[in-house]
Amino acid sequence: EFSSISKSGLTQVKQNSGRAGRKSPLSFYTEENMEDAMERVRNFINERVLPEKAEVLFGSAKHFEEEMMMYDCAIREVRTKLEVLNEELSVRYNRNPIKHIKTRLKRPVSILKKMRSKGYEISIESMTEHLNDVAGIRVVCYFIDDIYDIARWLAKQDDIRLLKVKDYIRSPKPNGYRSLHMIIEIPVFFLEEKRMMRVEVQIRTVAMDFWASLEHQLRYKKDLEGLENAEEIGVELKQCAETIAQTDEQMQSIREKIGVFTELT
Ligand code: GTP
Ligand code: MG
Repeated sequence: EFSSISKSGLTQVKQNSGRAGRKSPLSFYTEENMEDAMERVRNFINERVLPEKAEVLFGSAKHFEEEMMMYDCAIREVRTKLEVLNEELSVRYNRNPIKHIKTRLKRPVSILKKMRSKGYEISIESMTEHLNDVAGIRVVCYFIDDIYDIARWLAKQDDIRLLKVKDYIRSPKPNGYRSLHMIIEIPVFFLEEKRMMRVEVQIRTVAMDFWASLEHQLRYKKDLEGLENAEEIGVELKQCAETIAQTDEQMQSIREKIGVFTELT
């Protein structure tokens, strides 16, 4: 088992180093001394990890990789659904509610951190059971109404199960954060099974996205709580959120005045 894994690893390395003639740091290795290097890696692991443990480790790595592949497929399914909606609206009504879509798979470190902090057991099964945001998709649209239209269109598709909605637009977070969050479940068809996969969908306007991106950046630049003027900064950030929200509402009412779009449901 172990050696077959290392063999396929070797093939991959060889293919990569040949691609586009780019000189990879690995191009130093010929097939012979690569075998040699792999042997040393194997010995290194065998010395420090019991062989049975190594097998378990590789076994769960493979399982984890498969699980993440499934989440990635679920993201693609949801993305396609949203693109189809946007396309149909564009052709039929010359309306494009979606500005752009961003997707992400939660990184293994973040998965681990979250499960630790919430006190969940650390296992793949536990991840699937407890985490709603391993697969994430963010839909950025133009107007506030677009958000609710998209949410409704998505939720009413008969293969989608709506598990949870958090409306941080009607009830913004105390810091001023606004967005519509949905946890949905979507079936994905694999070779031997149909799996219901959970996806977190965040829908917001360009303006809300602007605020959230900046606030996120600031928060990660420095631990805001540690600053002596943290409260003042918080108040200012919230003021920005309110201003932005007012602008969003104004843009919405301008749109209604112009009345370019037919109301659809
Ligand atoms: P998480 O553990 O953060 O996933 O909390 P939760 O399960 O209560 O989810 P919630 O719906 O409140 O938020 C989920 C996601 O929304 C976060 O991972 C962020 O991407 C985004 N989000 C929530 N609150 C904020 C915020 O105050 N600022 C920014 N920039 N993003 C936020
Ligand atoms: Mg999250």
